[in-house]
Amino acid sequence: EKVPLKLAVNGKRYKLQVEPRTTLLDLLREQLHLTGTKKGCDYGQCGACTVHVDGKRINSCLTLAVMQDGKEVTTIEGLAPGGDKLHPMQEAFIKHDGFQCGYCTPGQIMSAVACIREGHADSEGEIREYMSGNICRCGAYTNIVAAIQEVKN
Ligand code: FES
Repeated sequence: EKVPLKLAVNGKRYKLQVEPRTTLLDLLREQLHLTGTKKGCDYGQCGACTVHVDGKRINSCLTLAVMQDGKEVTTIEGLAPGGDKLHPMQEAFIKHDGFQCGYCTPGQIMSAVACIREGHADSEGEIREYMSGNICRCGAYTNIVAAIQEVKN
């Protein structure tokens, strides 16, 4: 049986009906068709599904949608200010080649923005520790750190 859920996603308000067992990740991808948020492992190990809830990063595969009732979600689709403009972190990832295949990139960027916002970007070591939950199979870590450092400075 479905239950009601109110959610703001990327500034848009939704009134939804969801199965209680639906994860936030599946809700975003399948019900709202916001497929920028990726499903890597689906059990909290890879970070591909990282989004912001009320400004804090979260693995969207690890939380039920109903637990986020009334909250504000930001996904990679909602990060840029709009129009043709990218978010500065997106620009920095392009400039520093912070990806190869790109599958982990939305999650990396959501974490990278949170890394600075939450004050964990003062040194390379701090950045690497904060970003350690975001796995990149292509091994673009050095370039991702460089992108974060550029936005921070
Ligand atoms: Fe959520 Fe891997 S899909 S952490």
